[in-house]
Amino acid sequence: MLTLGIESSCDDTAAAVLRDTDTLLSSVLTSQDRIHTRFGGVVPELASRNHLEAIVPVVNEALYRADRELKDIDLIAVTRGPGLIGSLLVGFSYAKALSCVTRIPLVGVDHMAGHILSVFLEEEHPDFPFIALVVSGGTSSIYRADSFTNFTLLGRTRDDAAGEAFDKVAKLLGFPYPGGPIISREALAGDAEAIKFPRSWLEKDSLDFSFSGLKTSVLNHCNREKQKNRPLNIADICASFQEAAVEVLVEKTLLAAAQEDIRAVVLGGGVSSNPRLREYMKDRCREEKKDLFVPRPSHCTDNAAMIALAGVHVHQSDPILALDSDVYCRSLLA
Ligand code: KG4
Repeated sequence: MLTLGIESSCDDTAAAVLRDTDTLLSSVLTSQDRIHTRFGGVVPELASRNHLEAIVPVVNEALYRADRELKDIDLIAVTRGPGLIGSLLVGFSYAKALSCVTRIPLVGVDHMAGHILSVFLEEEHPDFPFIALVVSGGTSSIYRADSFTNFTLLGRTRDDAAGEAFDKVAKLLGFPYPGGPIISREALAGDAEAIKFPRSWLEKDSLDFSFSGLKTSVLNHCNREKQKNRPLNIADICASFQEAAVEVLVEKTLLAAAQEDIRAVVLGGGVSSNPRLREYMKDRCREEKKDLFVPRPSHCTDNAAMIALAGVHVHQSDPILALDSDVYCRSLLA
């Protein structure tokens, strides 16, 4: 069974060809970071226009690298949401048209399901049930996964997503978008204990997140230092901010695992390529006797391989997508 995955939910256009559920024949991605960087964030209108230019070459390249033609494909899986509506519509409309003319069955995939399941693209993956922390530019959520299609949302951010907080702090320190990878690089030279930024635990036993207070604390710290005419210690600020964000992400994920009495923990989403998050989660999982599964960084960030994989499982339980179906901006995983 050959599945063509298509992903265009935000600012990356991606396509992949997956054989069965375990052999990735190709995975192609074109990033728009260069286009959005001078605006300090993703500009939706520019994102959809650039998806329009990229979608055909990216899909063709994925087929070429897989050494397959469209006629060999058995299933098309496309991201239906959540994401930017204009961006989603490009991949979704293209996939619908492709399905319509080729009669290849089409399924719609929730982007979050893709992130939760991306760990199954790796050789080492967990059995169900497991706890998944999905952290990206648009979300910070904890899920319980009971099967390939059954997910329960246990907690989510009440304001900024973790990646959004990284990007906003990077912006106020003068770094370009996306700032997450830059913060983690700068943090390597800094002291994570230098500045005591607040940890937002919210109510007792809450699995929700809030990162806007942390972001404001970084801003206040920078303003105070400037008023005192002291130079900003960028490395210390990055390391201390990263530590505060990472500690809350890890401890709440472990709290979820304890509350649900589940041993396996999975990471997904762009922020999970953060080395400090991976290291902290690994250490704490060892202490709490939990088994940690983390996809390789290229499977953590947006990609179409995870959409193809999730699509195969959707296909087994859901009917083929009707041609009048539409995209959605908020995740349907509740
Ligand atoms: O999942 P993803 O590729 O896509 C979207 O959410 O669109 O995640 C992108 C996010 C950005 O906010 C980026 O700054 C963040 O992931 N990110 C990181 C790191 N690498 C990417 N954040 C912290 N540390 C990193 N190393």
